[in-house]
Amino acid sequence: MRSIARTPGTQGYAEQAAELIPRYQAISFLEHHQAEMHLLAGRPGRVLDVGAGIGVDAAWFASQGHSVVAVEPTEAFRLAAMRLHASPSIEWLDDALPKLDRVRERGQMFDTVMLSGVWMHLDERERRDGMPRLASLLAPHGVVVLSLRHGPVPVGRRMFEVSAEETIELARQHGLQPVLHVKTESVQASNRAAGVNWTRLAFRHVPKRQQSVEGAALETA
Ligand SMILES: C[S@@+](CC[C@H](N)C(=O)[O-])C[C@H]1O[C@@H](n2cnc3c(N)ncnc32)[C@H](O)[C@@H]1O
Repeated sequence: MRSIARTPGTQGYAEQAAELIPRYQAISFLEHHQAEMHLLAGRPGRVLDVGAGIGVDAAWFASQGHSVVAVEPTEAFRLAAMRLHASPSIEWLDDALPKLDRVRERGQMFDTVMLSGVWMHLDERERRDGMPRLASLLAPHGVVVLSLRHGPVPVGRRMFEVSAEETIELARQHGLQPVLHVKTESVQASNRAAGVNWTRLAFRHVPKRQQSVEGAALETA
């Protein structure tokens, strides 16, 4: 059993779950993930969705034939997700970054690791501890897709201003190279109006024969 202490990054979510659940439901996977869609559409495989919220992304992956492990430490979201997106292809876990102990106990690797709107909830130490664990869970040919929120922090939440540069450097230290780096506006109209924008990054393992990121096909915008 995981410790009953609340995961620090989830601050505010349980209290605001009733308001947030319909907001999350209103945005489709395709609207949300246009920028990285070309990296996600592929042969069915194993997906790890960390901080899966109410399961919109997990449900899309399941609908495409993937088998999904969806990690969500906020109970109100996890229970809503299990109700809204019941699927034999999705397994729900009460686990959290940076340790991801329950995921790691399974001894599985994943073709796709999603962290949509999660990484900036971790403080610097949690990010430093979390990155090598993500790298170790990624299959050799796999992709990590990660987004960082920038702009005003909603009242009651715990978020940090995390730069793309820091994230790319941290990933590099653990053998991951960037294959996507784009900035997008917020899909939610109220967040867009408040000046929220996003960095979207994706990483793959550096091939053994290539020791530096030089020459990697990095998409930027
Ligand atoms: C902005 S929501 C994003 C939910 C979903 N990924 C999406 O894109 O709709 C952030 C999620 O991260 C989760 N979270 C916060 N800290 C976390 C941590 N340390 N480990 C895993 N998930 C965390 C929250 O509980 C919340 O569900």
